[in-house]
Amino acid sequence: MPNVGKSQSTADRRQHFVELAQGIFPSEHITVEHDELRVLGTDWTRNFEVSPLAAVFPTSIDQVAELVQMANVHHFPLVPSGGRTGLSGGCVATSDEIVVSFDRMNRILHFDPVDRLVHCQAGVVTAQLQQFAAEHGLTYPVDFSSSGSSQIGGNIATNAGGIRVIRHGMTRDWVAGMKVVTGKGDVLEFNRGLVKNATGYDLRHLFIGSEGTLGFIVEAEMQLGTAPSPQRVMVLGVGKLADLLSILQRFKQTVNLSAFEFFSDLAMSKVLQHSTLRRPLRETTEYYALIEYDEDQSELATQAFSDCLDQGWVVDGVLSQSNSQTDDLWRLRDGITESIAGYVPYKNDVSVRISQVPEFLDDIDGLVKEHYPDLEVCWFGHIGDGNLHLNILKPPELDINEFQERCRAINPLLFKQIQRRGGSISAEHGVGLLKRDYLEFSRETSEIDAMREIKHVFDPNGIMNPGKLLLPQ
Ligand code: LAC
Ligand code: ZN
Repeated sequence: MPNVGKSQSTADRRQHFVELAQGIFPSEHITVEHDELRVLGTDWTRNFEVSPLAAVFPTSIDQVAELVQMANVHHFPLVPSGGRTGLSGGCVATSDEIVVSFDRMNRILHFDPVDRLVHCQAGVVTAQLQQFAAEHGLTYPVDFSSSGSSQIGGNIATNAGGIRVIRHGMTRDWVAGMKVVTGKGDVLEFNRGLVKNATGYDLRHLFIGSEGTLGFIVEAEMQLGTAPSPQRVMVLGVGKLADLLSILQRFKQTVNLSAFEFFSDLAMSKVLQHSTLRRPLRETTEYYALIEYDEDQSELATQAFSDCLDQGWVVDGVLSQSNSQTDDLWRLRDGITESIAGYVPYKNDVSVRISQVPEFLDDIDGLVKEHYPDLEVCWFGHIGDGNLHLNILKPPELDINEFQERCRAINPLLFKQIQRRGGSISAEHGVGLLKRDYLEFSRETSEIDAMREIKHVFDPNGIMNPGKLLLPQ
């Protein structure tokens, strides 16, 4: 009978929450509906059991602040929910939390063309901001395959990176100001769009990448940039991982790159299976590099390509001749995460300094071949940033728990290699639940202790996204 006891107390708690929440939100902005909660309580990792107590849809900062104050008094843990495209379980609700969705705070509030600042609510979707920028002859250049769903608040909370970091940096570089509701329920405003502001600790940067553990990001001043000149894309066939780095170095010598991505033939074959796209090259090679650069540098890029051919680093290549061909080449790379989702991949998102990439790749390749000779390992990522995505695919017949157990067994070996090189166990996907237990491979104990103390300042009762990023104590 213990389940009945638990479910009764869960039901009581749920009812208690709804009664209190009705003092803050209209009833239609509160949900306890099972199927809706299952969706709201999860993210793109999809391998956590979710069980939110309820979900709410604030429409104002005041509502968020009131909710946090109420949650502090009544001990309701809160989980922020943006576009739910995260890949580390950062916004999953696994233990009767209240999901706070920003879907209804999705308006662009103001645009200042002189400052080129867009004042956004947290739930503005990345593609909405990109579209807005384009309509004003400008650009919001941070881009990823989830731009159609991911929200600005979530991007900031995870310091999302993506495909053009090599030229435009991470989300952090585009946040000029921010409003947050801390875990205490205080509303704080950081930096107010200033370019220069040397007045002590920049709390804006503390909240960027904090994964909802300090408070909710509710509004942001996002910087826009000059519209990009027309771009061209090349896809090159490459036989050896190490040669990818030689190619990168050669291109960087003379060409202003906006992306330098790579994917394995296996990764591309999954995209081809799930689309009508065709193989880009006649030759099949083990790896491919996708290179994007300014069209007016085409001659320099062609020269770099030809040098790489002469060196034997490149086997074959294709250059986009039209916008639609550019889109198709990008889809070979952009489509990977979606096309492997059905294989419930075990994901790793790691980085080392670019100079260390060749040796690191060799070591990891050896490790993978030794430990997963029978599993499909799908490599891709942002090699121009030293950031590699290593996805192990689950064979359909293998039990999910057994599969994950096997994958987890190799983690310490992989993460030790990263630690040895001073790399990161999570380059751009955040820590969430998935990498939380391994944080010490990338951060010193004293740093983790400092993080805990900082959390305590903003969230003394530990109601903000508990259990994410830092191990519960
Ligand atoms: C990508 C996501 C998985 O690079 O980060 O496609
Ligand atoms: Zn990525």
